[in-house]
Amino acid sequence: MANAIRFLLGEEERALEGVSPTLTVLEYLRRHERRTGTKEGCAEGDCGACTVVLGEPDSDGGLKYRAVNACIQFVSVLNGRQLITVENLKGADGTLHPVQQALVDHHGSQCGFCTPGFVMQLYAGWLEGCLIDRQAVKDWLAGNLCRCTGYGPIVEAGLEAGTAPPPDNAAIAHAARRLAAFDDGSALHLVHDGQQVFAPRSADELAEIYATHPDAVLVAGATDVGLWVTKQHRRLATLIDLTSVKDLAIIEEDGGGLTIGALASHRDATDAFARLHPDLGELLRRFASIQIRNAGTIGGNIANGSPIGDLPPALIALDARLTLRRRQERREIPLEDFFIAYGKQDRAPGEFVESVYVPRLAADMRFACYKLSKRFDQDISALMGAFRVKQRDGRVEEARIAFGGMAAIPQRASAAEAALTGSLFDAPAIERAAGALAEDFSPLTDMRASAGYRLKAAQNLLRRFLFENSAGTRRAARVLEVA
Ligand SMILES: Cc1cc2nc3c(=O)[nH]c(=O)nc-3n(C[C@H](O)[C@H](O)[C@H](O)COP(=O)(O)OP(=O)(O)OC[C@H]3O[C@@H](n4cnc5c(N)ncnc54)[C@H](O)[C@@H]3O)c2cc1C
Ligand code: FES
Ligand code: FES
Repeated sequence: MANAIRFLLGEEERALEGVSPTLTVLEYLRRHERRTGTKEGCAEGDCGACTVVLGEPDSDGGLKYRAVNACIQFVSVLNGRQLITVENLKGADGTLHPVQQALVDHHGSQCGFCTPGFVMQLYAGWLEGCLIDRQAVKDWLAGNLCRCTGYGPIVEAGLEAGTAPPPDNAAIAHAARRLAAFDDGSALHLVHDGQQVFAPRSADELAEIYATHPDAVLVAGATDVGLWVTKQHRRLATLIDLTSVKDLAIIEEDGGGLTIGALASHRDATDAFARLHPDLGELLRRFASIQIRNAGTIGGNIANGSPIGDLPPALIALDARLTLRRRQERREIPLEDFFIAYGKQDRAPGEFVESVYVPRLAADMRFACYKLSKRFDQDISALMGAFRVKQRDGRVEEARIAFGGMAAIPQRASAAEAALTGSLFDAPAIERAAGALAEDFSPLTDMRASAGYRLKAAQNLLRRFLFENSAGTRRAARVLEVA
């Protein structure tokens, strides 16, 4: 196994050893490289000040560039990738990059603390060709906070940056070739001061390493695990970095449904989910920020067992099935059975989430999912409701209702489902089901919402589901953003 993290920092080669596996990319840049352009605002993935761009070899001999939050990424993620920071953007003759020039021209910076993050996020948008219109730029910047310039000038700069000439593919292919030259296909094993990280290259390798080290912490997108280190100051002895396990990142669609590998990122899975149902696409648009969706994975969102994770309620309502793997043994379970109690999931030592299978909706099914949070963008749900009904001759043959934020785990509402099953899909039946939600759940009051709000809002979501889907029509009852 390789014992150094080999990567490109801009155009410069690096081989990093003798560092803690939980050193963050941000700390590495600021303390080891003295590249202080990348800022720390929150150290929890919320503000975007630390945004950097990672380039990962793709199957076409190029690099797939994605913006991530350096503050919650550990250094092993750099292995085999190109890291671009704000210091890399200016030309050798001092010429500003078009993104930087646009921010200057539109007065998009005052105190400047947030500016490197905006520059890098817009730079990633320019690389990906995503700054196509005002709404796209606003969505693109949902994970970047600025407290003094105001977003108007920054959005104008983003729109102008989107018109700049595209990136130089020859230079990208050259960087990809340099990365390929480092790569002998071996896994990384970095040991330092009582800590170690493995970075396997395949699911088979992962299965062996995890079965041998069942106490290791699996790190996928690190959008939860990163905060265990930066906010909870936990010392993690053994980590397994999953980011190079490409065969866990599959997204396969067929007539029956969608199979998503645990390592598929939220961003990569968005289109496939949106094809299953537009509400899933909208849910992912409102899931955190682009930077978090670039790193965070479907498997991580399930495996963390959070009662307020956004995907589990939607996937439970869709009757998704989870495949778990330990060494060569696999078992498939209904997703809802994975969540046992707060912090406790049905996962044996050395067993990991391999994939989730989501069946397509049949023609006689209606589905909706709704996220309620205090902010529209970049906010965790106070409540997440998901509904699927199958009708026959106007009656509900089967109902699947699941909520997040109503219990210690993502959970089905069995009393409400029973109240609907066999009834007409109409207002009296929905009222009975709404009443039954009080039997299903005794929600908590916390900083996101009170127990009373949660119950009332859950009942109203059920009513909204009927309103939008009754009599075979689809009527949207949504608050839509005005561009
Ligand atoms: C700023 C911010 C905003 C966020 N917004 C949202 C939001 O809007 N909605 C939401 O639902 N969540 C949100 N989250 C939480 C988080 O981004 C998601 O839960 C994400 O999907 C976690 O995935 P990950 O790959 O980053 O997991 P990691 O942090 O890598 O891992 C999370 C947990 O899952 C385990 N794990 C990971 N992969 C596997 C696997 N294959 N098998 C077994 N165990 C595994 C890890 O060991 C760990 O216990 C947010 C987080 C941040 C920091
Ligand atoms: S410092 Fe705020 S997102 Fe990283
Ligand atoms: S320019 Fe000051 S916080 Fe953004």
